[in-house]
Amino acid sequence: MKKTLKQTLSEKIDKQRPRTKKLLKEYGDVVVDQVTIAQVIGGMRGIKSLVTDISYLDPEEGIRYRGYTLEEVIEGLPKPKGGDMPYVEGLFYLLLTGDFPNQEEVQQVVDEFSKRRIVPRFVYDVIDSFPTSSHPMAIFSTAILTLNRESVFNRQYQAGLSKKDYWEATYEDALNLLAKLPEIAAYIYNKLYRKGERILSDPNLDMGANFAQMMGIEKPYDDVSRLHFIIHSDHESGNVSAHTGHLVASSLSDIYLSISAMINGLAGPLHGLANQEVLRWLQEVMNKMDNKLPSTEEMEQFVWNTLNSGQVIPGFGHAVLRKTDPRYKLQREFSQKHLPDDPIFKYADLLYKVVPPILQKHGKAKNPWPNVDAQSGVIQWHYGVKDYDFYTVLFGIGRSIGICANIIWDRALGYPLERPKSVTTDMLEKIAGIKKMAEAEEN
Ligand SMILES: CC(C)(COP(=O)(O)OP(=O)(O)OC[C@H]1O[C@@H](n2cnc3c(N)ncnc32)[C@H](O)[C@@H]1OP(=O)(O)O)[C@@H](O)C(=O)NCCC(=O)NCCS
Repeated sequence: MKKTLKQTLSEKIDKQRPRTKKLLKEYGDVVVDQVTIAQVIGGMRGIKSLVTDISYLDPEEGIRYRGYTLEEVIEGLPKPKGGDMPYVEGLFYLLLTGDFPNQEEVQQVVDEFSKRRIVPRFVYDVIDSFPTSSHPMAIFSTAILTLNRESVFNRQYQAGLSKKDYWEATYEDALNLLAKLPEIAAYIYNKLYRKGERILSDPNLDMGANFAQMMGIEKPYDDVSRLHFIIHSDHESGNVSAHTGHLVASSLSDIYLSISAMINGLAGPLHGLANQEVLRWLQEVMNKMDNKLPSTEEMEQFVWNTLNSGQVIPGFGHAVLRKTDPRYKLQREFSQKHLPDDPIFKYADLLYKVVPPILQKHGKAKNPWPNVDAQSGVIQWHYGVKDYDFYTVLFGIGRSIGICANIIWDRALGYPLERPKSVTTDMLEKIAGIKKMAEAEEN
């Protein structure tokens, strides 16, 4: 009998624990980084103060999961029969263990997820009680929060759980939640945009195919879902959603509290909401153009108008990346193959040509290149998901996979409560060796 994912993970954890322990005990005083005033005031940009082995974001190359590029991940993970994109469940295996699962191992995870899909009635009741004018991210976050009463970790913690076993209860919570997220998301979609008409899930399908089924969208939307969930799953630990999930979980809040919080961070327009902003922006341009594709000069003018009114161009720029996002590239390739003549794709592709030189000329953004959000909504739109408020929920399903894997490992390695130190402006002025601004003005 093949080992289960949990058994494999348990062995990996036993191997990893002494490494972390040794670093802490014997090398705890070694300096990793220094911190400037610009970083203290500037959102802690670039300070090396978090650790994860699950993914690493290279500014030039983009994200690697467990050391593998996205192309290698998509190539190396098992795929369902007839699918071009791999099982999302296989990605969860890879993120947790660092190993590519074989067909049998991935099937075990597919079965585990399938067993845990049923969402309690009270969650649907909470979703139903929202006004239909609510943003789907607010509903999504609340639905996840509502599940907190199901937490295995909480139950076992109250009964007295040994620290070394925290991860196992967290693992159970993570699987229980991840299996339910597509069901919850599809239910929200149907409530808000399809007058409550619901298509039930099929226990024989993998996560991507089942999501497509519940959304009522034909192939290759199963592959679209798999690709979407996989490329959005992790982007190392410092981005708002990943960091929020880690931070909240560090107080031993359970998975539901932590993932609900991270969803709230993802819902900001500078983070996950940018994918809906891209579509909103493109629609505005399309309306003004009467749906005709603008010339390069006309598109340049739209971009400048947005910049000159003090707004950002959604889908471009990044806090860490300094090149075109590989997640963007993969989606563009998918679009070139499956929807080359789609009018919105043509608009987005024209933006790809026009925006970077303008941002360079504008001279503010450190990275003028497109990020993941510049393309993801375009694909959704093509397959009929035109209610773009919903796009960040899709991002949220994917991102939860990476954050859950991280939280399980946080618990396994005994990472403590997060608690950085703050200083006052007076203190910063003193450190900088300058007089307080008020005193300087008086003199
Ligand atoms: C992603 C983002 C929030 C990163 O922010 P950041 O780390 O502060 O980025 P930078 O250091 O390059 O920002 C420097 C300046 O360039 C501006 N800038 C960055 N990206 C820009 C864009 N796409 N359009 C216009 N201006 C931009 C910033 O607003 C900032 O202006 P300020 O000095 O007046 O405050 C930013 O690029 C952005 O707002 N992009 C658009 C939203 C988006 O696509 N988000 C999804 C990210 S995956």
